[in-house]
Amino acid sequence: MKNIIYRNNDAMSALGLGTWKSNPGEVYDAVLEAIKVGYRHIDCAMIYGNEKEIGKALQKAFSSGIVKREELWITSKLWCNSHGEANVMPALKSTLNNLQLDYLDLYLVHWPVALKPDVIFPEKGEDLLSLEERPIIKTWKGMEAMVSKGLTRHIGVCNFSIKKLKSLSAIAAIKPEMNQVEMHPFLQQSTLLEYCKKEGIYITAYSPLGSPDRSAQMKADNEPSLLENPVISAIAQKYGCSTAQILIAWALERGTSVIPKSVNAGRIKQNYEAESIQLDKEDMDQIAKLDRHFRYVNGKFWALPRSTYTVANLWDE
Ligand code: A2P
Repeated sequence: MKNIIYRNNDAMSALGLGTWKSNPGEVYDAVLEAIKVGYRHIDCAMIYGNEKEIGKALQKAFSSGIVKREELWITSKLWCNSHGEANVMPALKSTLNNLQLDYLDLYLVHWPVALKPDVIFPEKGEDLLSLEERPIIKTWKGMEAMVSKGLTRHIGVCNFSIKKLKSLSAIAAIKPEMNQVEMHPFLQQSTLLEYCKKEGIYITAYSPLGSPDRSAQMKADNEPSLLENPVISAIAQKYGCSTAQILIAWALERGTSVIPKSVNAGRIKQNYEAESIQLDKEDMDQIAKLDRHFRYVNGKFWALPRSTYTVANLWDE
């Protein structure tokens, strides 16, 4: 099993199960199946709306002796309406309560975007708060306090640009250890990856298969398909495996963590087995040429009129 080793020597299995878009009614079986197959890393978030059911699956896995708590790596994320130092603990406690856990292994700030406390998802600019009103450093102080209290072992961020990582790291008492970002052959983000490697910030690649199950509103017309890309297909043929497995093997080969989502028992197993595929330099060189800076999760849903957020200032590009 490939591991990511943290600063204090804690080991996180690089391949994890994604749970974004895994609905209640299906995520219980998916998580249990994944643990049975051998996954030891489950990626969660409050906003996925399924933490209660994941908590039941975890309890089942513990009580039936399949795995012990300390053998699992559980990540969750602070939603955007809980930015601000004092709001972090209640949000984390609610997540722990839903997951039926005493602590998380990793807690991440989900987006560098703040919402008003009573808003779950913005419909108009007034639903958002600017980063002047909710400075990231204040939220981060709340995140650091959660480490001191033992409610999470590690803290990090998601969807942060190099610029935002730099400004946070410059003033943080605990530097972020993880940046979870969209990453796949169409969005390789090599500069961000290099910067993070140099700074000891690990990367988790989300939407590694291109998230084809996103809602229609989140999709653009004529999106390119990773799972049906001819270059990826040809490499899959060479190894006698699926295109999804090549996409996962590629992320692992680059030293990132990767969290393919599936609620299908066969695909959960298939994705897990991708770890044994060793891509060679020729494969990596061919895949490198596919980069086209294409985001499936482009963040346009934050860039509402009369808010301070734009797609440009979200990604700083
Ligand atoms: P399902 O849950 O029915 O398996 P991402 O991880 O990029 O968000 O992509 C998740 C999507 O990819 C889901 O629609 C999921 O469907 C599908 N998927 C997951 N694993 C595979 C696989 N091995 N082959 C094809 N599709 C997959």
